[in-house]
Amino acid sequence: MDVIWLSEEDVRSLLTMEVALEAVEDAFFEHGLGRTQMPPKSYLYFASHNGDLRTMPAYLERADVAGVKIVNVHTGNAMKGLPTVMALMVLNSTETGAPKAVMGATHLTGMRTGAAGGIAAKHLARPGSETVGLIGAGAQARTQLLALSHLFSIREVFVADMSMERCLALEKDCRAFLDCNYNLTTDPREVSECDILVTTTPSRKPIVKDDWILPGTHINAIGADAKGKQELEPAILRRSKVVVDDLAQATHSGEVNVSLSLGEMTAKDIYAQIGDIVAGKVPGRVDDEEITIFDSTGLAIQDVAAAERVYSLAKGKGIAVKFI
Ligand SMILES: NC(=O)c1ccc[n+]([C@@H]2O[C@H](COP(=O)([O-])OP(=O)(O)OC[C@H]3O[C@@H](n4cnc5c(N)ncnc54)[C@H](O)[C@@H]3O)[C@@H](O)[C@H]2O)c1
Repeated sequence: MDVIWLSEEDVRSLLTMEVALEAVEDAFFEHGLGRTQMPPKSYLYFASHNGDLRTMPAYLERADVAGVKIVNVHTGNAMKGLPTVMALMVLNSTETGAPKAVMGATHLTGMRTGAAGGIAAKHLARPGSETVGLIGAGAQARTQLLALSHLFSIREVFVADMSMERCLALEKDCRAFLDCNYNLTTDPREVSECDILVTTTPSRKPIVKDDWILPGTHINAIGADAKGKQELEPAILRRSKVVVDDLAQATHSGEVNVSLSLGEMTAKDIYAQIGDIVAGKVPGRVDDEEITIFDSTGLAIQDVAAAERVYSLAKGKGIAVKFI
């Protein structure tokens, strides 16, 4: 049995946004056609440490690839000089069950999350969108913008974070791939008038107010990925076309979870899963006026699809190190 080890640096060198976008769109397509297995994420909650740890298994049946990711979210990690989100991925042979690769998956998580936002915007944002608002200027915001910059000609980026230092750091990092106008603020209201709004905070109460959002806006709601988290005022959900990544996951832990549990909306108010749109079962945006929301919780199939591509690229380039 040969198991290979790929470090974070290896994965970073192999997993470009082009590769991530292709992998994630493929995974959504398969999900839309019901050819995936993805049991619910299981969570351990470390209440006294303000964090959690999740395991995320998945099987893509047509590609015949399977694996599991272990990932945390600790909102106080920045103070310790650590990322909020860190992950490790194991890919297994479906034929024998033997592990075939272990890889650092922190970069992979950011890239596949960015790619999910990108693919959603491709189907739901107005074509020709050119302004992006970011609320939250952390790790996920960077890959969201990277993905959008591959799909749209962005001329202006508005960034809001409670920390101006983080806004400045984001601009510095993002200029490496997107040189345009950046407007930085600590007031989220100032960034909400844009074509594509992206929220990536760990907030547990709404930040974005209903009356800030103009017709035609597309929102990628990324931050809410555990029970009790929310970033948007419920009234926005009620007047928007809400698309989730996975119904079961979103109901439990997505942007819609709080509104659903309080009875402010029902499952009938959810328009579709993104895979249904990618697979052509239902249309995405149908006019320039509708407000569209992509509620992303992060799917294990995104991880497996991206990790399999990393594995194949590593094999092809012979850069893998034997682990066992
Ligand atoms: N949907 C998915 O697939 C997915 C994947 C990974 C992470 N996440 C979630 O995304 C969120 C962000 O993750 P990250 O890795 O970017 O974290 P991060 O700590 O790197 O960044 C979060 C940023 O949000 C800012 N922030 C927090 N509260 C704010 C507020 N009220 N207003 C403005 N800014 C605020 C922080 O200052 C920080 O800069 C987390 O909730 C995480 O669980 C979702």
